[in-house]
Amino acid sequence: MIETIRWTEEGVVMIDQTRLPIEENYVTCRNYEEVAEAIRGMVIRGAPAIGVAAAMGVALGFLHAAEADLDGQFARICETLAKTRPTAVNLFWAIARMRRVYDSMRGQPPAAIRRALIEEALRVREEDIAICQAIGRNGAPLVPDNRTVLTHCNAGALATAGYGTALGVIRAAVEAGKQVDVFADETRPFLQGSRLTVWELQQDRIPTTLITDNMAGHYLKSGRIGCVVVGADRIAANGDVANKIGTYSVAVLAKENRVPFFVAAPVSTLDLTLACGDLIPIEQRAPAEVTHVFGQPVAPPGAAAANPAFDVTPARYITAIITENGVARAPYEESLRQLMNQAAVIR
Ligand code: MRU
Repeated sequence: MIETIRWTEEGVVMIDQTRLPIEENYVTCRNYEEVAEAIRGMVIRGAPAIGVAAAMGVALGFLHAAEADLDGQFARICETLAKTRPTAVNLFWAIARMRRVYDSMRGQPPAAIRRALIEEALRVREEDIAICQAIGRNGAPLVPDNRTVLTHCNAGALATAGYGTALGVIRAAVEAGKQVDVFADETRPFLQGSRLTVWELQQDRIPTTLITDNMAGHYLKSGRIGCVVVGADRIAANGDVANKIGTYSVAVLAKENRVPFFVAAPVSTLDLTLACGDLIPIEQRAPAEVTHVFGQPVAPPGAAAANPAFDVTPARYITAIITENGVARAPYEESLRQLMNQAAVIR
């Protein structure tokens, strides 16, 4: 299995997702500021993986904190990490989880707090792999046999601690003996589909065809696609889903062509404090990601470019939301709340 992120004596080691598939390079973040920079610069990306990185960043930051004003330093570490990317709620979920451990250790010797934070960060990573496998088990029965699955962006092992959410569902369907192949949207502008999803599925020998984003409608209409499975960065209480820019267009085209549209995500991606998707903060990234590809201009100098990194798919386009706790269907206000309070079956 691809190792997205791990804790080592030297620091937090991540596979550099800005360099894949050209080179398989690993970077070591030796302090929390470097972890924050890796999240911002998308060396590590994908909502659950961002959460694991943030948890490890908090642990690493506190490991190196000076003995004076521990509370102040802990707050600064959390704030720095929280400012990296605004949309994926797993970032804030992971920081809050680390803060709960810190608060519960109040009055204990710093060495014991350091140990507890490292142990918690390692648990976040381990649990994430088990959660993805549970998502896979819950989602595999929904994938039609002998058909093509369309996916957008990368919601795979690289976007999690391992196995993946949307790609976890595909992996589990294949492991269950289903004959499926994958169509991967290239996912402009950062090309997570072509660079990461195709690379990742190649490792597992799952037959994959790369298409440009504007080919999705053609294939959804053709009858070839049995279902769409995507990940999520934040899911509001009414089932609206923020995910990689372009997801909304795919969802509308799927509904128009009566193709089931599934969202696969851990419960940590649910943000039931937000009534609907309009309240989800959408990250705006640098225009240069649109005007340039791998540093090469693809637009005339001075071209204005917009770069919202995510869009919101209204719940009415979503056939089901697959979590580790089970599968939610409309009305999502009820089904998501139920799943949130239910224990997962994680092996
Ligand atoms: O900008 P990214 O690459 O972090 O965006 C990733 C996505 O939109 C994924 O689909 C989402 O985080 C789910 S990952 C399991």
